Amino acid sequence: MTALLKVLEVATEGIHVVDEHGVTVVYNKAASEFDGLLPEEVLGKHILEVFPSLSHDSSTLLRVLKTGVPEIAKQQTFTNYKGKTITTINSTYPITDGDTIIGACEISTDITRIKEMAERIADLSQELRSKEHAEKPGVTRAKSKISRKFFTVDDIVGQSAVMRDVKRQVVQVARTQSNVLVWGETGTGKELVVQAIHSASDRADAPFVAQNCAALPEGLLEGLVFGTSKGGFTGAQDRPGLLELASGGTLYLDEIDSMPLGLQAKLLRVIQDKRVRRIGDVRERPVDVRIIGSTSMPPRQAVEQGLLRPDLYFRLAVVEIGLPPLRKRQEDIPLLVSHFLRKHGRGKTISVSPEVMSAFLTYDWPGNVRELEHAIEGSLAFLKGDTIEPAHIPPTVRGITATTGLNKGSIRSLLKNHEKTAIEEALRQGGSVSQAARILGIPRQTLQYRMKIHGIKSPRSRDKG
Ligand SMILES: Nc1ncnc2c1ncn2[C@@H]1O[C@H](COP(=O)(O)OP(=O)(O)OP(=O)(O)O)[C@@H](O)[C@H]1O
Ligand SMILES: [Mg+2]
Repeated sequence: MTALLKVLEVATEGIHVVDEHGVTVVYNKAASEFDGLLPEEVLGKHILEVFPSLSHDSSTLLRVLKTGVPEIAKQQTFTNYKGKTITTINSTYPITDGDTIIGACEISTDITRIKEMAERIADLSQELRSKEHAEKPGVTRAKSKISRKFFTVDDIVGQSAVMRDVKRQVVQVARTQSNVLVWGETGTGKELVVQAIHSASDRADAPFVAQNCAALPEGLLEGLVFGTSKGGFTGAQDRPGLLELASGGTLYLDEIDSMPLGLQAKLLRVIQDKRVRRIGDVRERPVDVRIIGSTSMPPRQAVEQGLLRPDLYFRLAVVEIGLPPLRKRQEDIPLLVSHFLRKHGRGKTISVSPEVMSAFLTYDWPGNVRELEHAIEGSLAFLKGDTIEPAHIPPTVRGITATTGLNKGSIRSLLKNHEKTAIEEALRQGGSVSQAARILGIPRQTLQYRMKIHGIKSPRSRDKG
């Protein structure tokens, strides 16, 4: 492959070039992904042979070939050969040699996600308008997840006693208006459970808004959750917060123990008074929202460590749903495996070999159900036949015992101790979490999360306490 062709392969834009006859000469990876076709199904063939629904007039490439006039930034929404709906922005240019047109080139950019986001914002503003809110939604809101297709209780897979109990709790609490606290390690299905509660409740048609409290600095989080008002601070705009946006529905505050304690107090007042005051506003506005919080450590532990206010804890934990790590409910693994094989198998019947199942049952899944799902999804990508063998699954899952002589447990605790020492050293050197994160070269949120796992307090809260 020439250097130029290699560049075309890694480009995120789809590139499709035809010669003067309309026969494809270049068709890069991105283009093939958009169309859902393999390059060999397109290369060397005439456009109309590959896309029979097009004609000489409707195909942009053939049109530009004929007219020599470029067609710039045309938006196109189509269902590709794999049944996926995609929106692209296409520009098509003639390729000329002197006065002769010797080909045409189409460059397309996938804007499916941008379009979805824009539509969500539009939907939301529609919803707000219909509720007689005058404000326009702000840009920051796009960062929160506001989606319409939610998991339901039937999506929660598991037959262990504890998961059956979780499903029962979900159904019961959905009928009430109680606030809820869900906790469990990463990937145990917290968001799945939260969405299932929302969709089984009488709030299902109202908004579901999710926000991760660890993802934003304090100032932004406050404005986002409670809203802002002109005059609140320089440059502030009149904007409803997530509490207002979720009104009538459910607000999911993920990693609520990362929310600064001052904001937790403010949130508690909103829960008690059912009214919210935007930052800088004099007016209080009524809100009717079910708040579901989640933590990755047992909530009582978060209270003990001073990360979660006890009064907020008691308000939220009217119902407390704990999701055990996958290693503590191995009887769910075979069921989850078949579920994910079906979900990601594209209609093919695929099974796992006994060796793989036994590796799945022995591995301790620090990333829990998400890690299992990724292991299966990843192995399907390489699979030629219809059985997943040990070679297809990630080496860590397969087990590293044989090659190192150390057992898995001892490696993990070695790494864990090493990580703890490194974090403590970086905190000592840096003096603050942000500095320590810089020293370690990881995002601040990641560091905070790792600190929580190791029970390390931030230097700031030590000063306070
Ligand atoms: N019991 C389950 N049945 C089916 N799918 C599950 C189950 N638990 C988790 N999953 C799947 O695993 C993935 C991770 O779940 P989810 O996002 O709910 O985890 P989480 O606890 O919110 O994780 P994190 O703390 O990292 O945000 C999702 O794709 C979800 O559908
Ligand atoms: Mg989550």
